[in-house]
Amino acid sequence: MNILPYTPPPTISRFLQSRAFIRSIMGPFGSGKSVGSVMALVKNAMEQQPDAKGMRRSRYAIIRNTYRQLDDTTKKTIFDWLPDGVAGTYKSGKNMFVLRFGDVESEWLFRALDSPDDVRNLLSMELTGAWINEYREIPSEVLINLIGRLRYPESSRIRLPGIVMDTNPPPLGSFWHRLATEPPPAEIQAALDVALKDSPDGPRPLIEHFQQPGGKDENAENLEHLPPGYYDLMIAANADKGEDWLNVHVHGNYGPDPSNLPVYPQYRANLHAPKPFPYRYNHGLTTYVGLDFGRTPAAVLAQQLKNDRWVVFSELTTVNCTTEEFIPKLAAWLARWDIKPSEVKCYGDPAGSYGSEQNRLTSFQMLRREGFVIIKGERSPEKRLGAVRKLLATIIDGRPGLMIDAEEAPMLAEGFAGAYCFKRNQEGEMNPDPRKNKYSHPHDALQHLLGRIALSAGGQQDAIKAPTPWSLYGKTA
Ligand SMILES: Nc1ncnc2c1ncn2[C@@H]1O[C@H](COP(=O)(O)OP(=O)(O)OP(=O)(O)O)[C@@H](O)[C@H]1O
Ligand SMILES: [Mg+2]
Repeated sequence: MNILPYTPPPTISRFLQSRAFIRSIMGPFGSGKSVGSVMALVKNAMEQQPDAKGMRRSRYAIIRNTYRQLDDTTKKTIFDWLPDGVAGTYKSGKNMFVLRFGDVESEWLFRALDSPDDVRNLLSMELTGAWINEYREIPSEVLINLIGRLRYPESSRIRLPGIVMDTNPPPLGSFWHRLATEPPPAEIQAALDVALKDSPDGPRPLIEHFQQPGGKDENAENLEHLPPGYYDLMIAANADKGEDWLNVHVHGNYGPDPSNLPVYPQYRANLHAPKPFPYRYNHGLTTYVGLDFGRTPAAVLAQQLKNDRWVVFSELTTVNCTTEEFIPKLAAWLARWDIKPSEVKCYGDPAGSYGSEQNRLTSFQMLRREGFVIIKGERSPEKRLGAVRKLLATIIDGRPGLMIDAEEAPMLAEGFAGAYCFKRNQEGEMNPDPRKNKYSHPHDALQHLLGRIALSAGGQQDAIKAPTPWSLYGKTA
């Protein structure tokens, strides 16, 4: 078979010549990355040593985040260049393309990661290599685990086993950005050391990363194979997506880091948590405790001053603790201020009030048994975050509507300062849920309390709507 005439652009040419075990190419839309990756597999298939029958056999996994994307784009690129029925045969039952020309016979298995079963299936295969298409969308564990799967055909014939990956730029700070710009993390280094031990190919670089110029750069690549004005049209058609999007997809730069944006950008440590802290717990005021349950129960101790300001005096955090183990800790913690369980109004995660199995008490029931008064906290995350944000932004008599004793509630304070942050989904887009980490538990506890009581006290439920991460920070992806 004659493969279609293929002349790679300069960066892709270097990518194709790389002998690295993992080689990645990053560039703007339409720069020829996917076709280059297909060619890298063809080249590797031709490099394998013939078996007893004189056939050069190989097997590759072609990986994309979802089957939908695999069918719509990845397969399309492959069949554009290696047409089914001409360059080989597609077997739909096995979702596999068998490439055949000359003495080359190569199995290309299309695998996506829609379900855990898909991932398990992928990581049980014996492969010569793999292509991870749009790798910024793939969990890093897939790469790490693939490294150990490259052992087909047997060691005497396998040549240059490896992983090729291509992508549009991932966000700054992501695993993939770090992999391209920093020494590999220990687990990847260890996996590569094992995989390359006794390599029949001699010394090889472990990882090489190639970055193409931007689509509007003087030396932009693959323009001759794109429709005229491709990038100008893209800029015009996607203006509403904002500068960040164009910066990634047209200009080929790493995207801004949308993760780790603080949930409470309104927070200023010197205002909300000044040192020394001006307030002390006051036995003359109602005592409130916000509670979060689960495997890392947490509590916050708060009071509302006469001028309506909320003050958080302390936090109680735990790791790997059941509610049963937590309750005595809670009582001991409150005893520091000489507070008895019956003197506290607790607001807890409403999830703690249901789901009891037979003969098992709910968290709420256990607390009541020990003399606590417990009320269901606010369930809607929007309202909970909105209530806290509103208090942070309110000024009463020259001070914020919510203040925290950072000495006594360090996790809460660090969380406010940014450690309690939003997470990102696999596409690098911001997720409206804050990241679960050690800071999120005391914050959940605080929200269960303030989400319910601060709202009902003010009677302004409707006026408080939490902004989404996007509206706070502008468009990100
Ligand atoms: N060397 C080449 N010769 C001829 N056509 C090419 C070449 N490289 C790529 N093309 C064509 O250019 C177009 C874009 O290529 P490709 O799909 O590989 O880009 P990409 O970088 O993967 O884009 P995206 O970021 O959108 O996934 C396709 O139509 C492809 O067939
Ligand atoms: Mg592509």
